[in-house]
Amino acid sequence: MSIAVHLIPLPDVSAAEAAAWHRIVANATAHDLPGVPAPDPERIHAQLTRPALGSRRLAWLATGADGAPVAVAGLRVFTSPGQEHLAELELHVDPAHRRRGAGSLLMSAVVAACVTEGRRSLIAAAPADSPGAAFAERCGFRRALTLDHLVLRLDELPDAGLPLIADTPPPGYRAAHWTGTVPDELADAFAAAKNAMNDMPVGDLDYGSVAWDADRVRSMAKAVADRGDTLLTVAAVHDDGTMAGYTEIVLPQGSGPRAQQYDTAVVPAHRGHGLGLWVKAAMVRRLRAEHPDVVEIETDNADDNVHMLAVNHRLGFRSYRRTHEYQLDVPAT
Ligand SMILES: CC(C)(COP(=O)(O)OP(=O)(O)OC[C@H]1O[C@@H](n2cnc3c(N)ncnc32)[C@H](O)[C@@H]1OP(=O)(O)O)[C@@H](O)C(=O)NCCC(=O)NCCS
Repeated sequence: MSIAVHLIPLPDVSAAEAAAWHRIVANATAHDLPGVPAPDPERIHAQLTRPALGSRRLAWLATGADGAPVAVAGLRVFTSPGQEHLAELELHVDPAHRRRGAGSLLMSAVVAACVTEGRRSLIAAAPADSPGAAFAERCGFRRALTLDHLVLRLDELPDAGLPLIADTPPPGYRAAHWTGTVPDELADAFAAAKNAMNDMPVGDLDYGSVAWDADRVRSMAKAVADRGDTLLTVAAVHDDGTMAGYTEIVLPQGSGPRAQQYDTAVVPAHRGHGLGLWVKAAMVRRLRAEHPDVVEIETDNADDNVHMLAVNHRLGFRSYRRTHEYQLDVPAT
């Protein structure tokens, strides 16, 4: 059965539209991912109204016959050199209004926007074995990557924390850590280390890659701060001044107990010395000392990223769900 659905492009998202967006995402998350916390209303509002790094956003709201919002779609259009072919989809239909064509209607608007924007790759994520996975396959997306989601419960660690992992970095390296923007004296070294993430496994996703420099790392920290989140970084710096590895955690505003893992990378010349394990263990210790309200860390890894998964399992992370990343090769016309 299809229903009368009306699509409204949202060039600017009002507070009422952001609240409707949040309601739909919260209902969809409770339905599809029971036990996974939905983002806070403030976080959704910030995501919809503040610019993200290296991208701009298009948004649509679908309303039912009575004018009430039933579904939303967001399209992140990447703007950095190296990613100008790429767009990322977010699509949520309220569970009470599914299988009536709202998702398909929004998808048509999104694909048309990709053509207008000259995008050849549209990527989207959906939980494994979910309505989203069935819908994506029906819409012609191909599965390009599977992510394992893992959680570490900090309150289940022994009082001693991680007694089997050294609390000083391996010989030849020193520890550095900061909150928010990288200190000026480390900015170039940090940007060089960020480029090491470009060999992260991304399966068959046509994701492209971006080159990092000191300005971009500062802009990234600013984008996180502007949406009200806190960015923590722990790094290992070699005696020669090279940043050999780092790990980043974001504390989403209002998220309370759950921290979100961002990048962890060790630059190729410094791999094999246990630095990945060390930086992540140092971050766990830092969270326990500085943010005792944080009780869990969530991360995701490509399911074939054996080294990162091994590090996470050593730290005590446990897999709890999987997401598929899909790609649609957008037709040229
Ligand atoms: C995926 C989602 C957007 C689909 O929205 P929807 O409005 O129900 O989609 P449509 O009614 O347009 O469905 C179109 C087709 O997709 C397929 N489909 C959608 N949901 C499905 C399900 N639960 N099981 C199997 N196939 C499904 C069907 O082929 C359907 O056609 P049919 O109803 O004639 O059989 C919605 O379930 C949702 O919000 N899920 C959570 C968020 C998510 O995973 N987003 C994925 C982004 S790719």
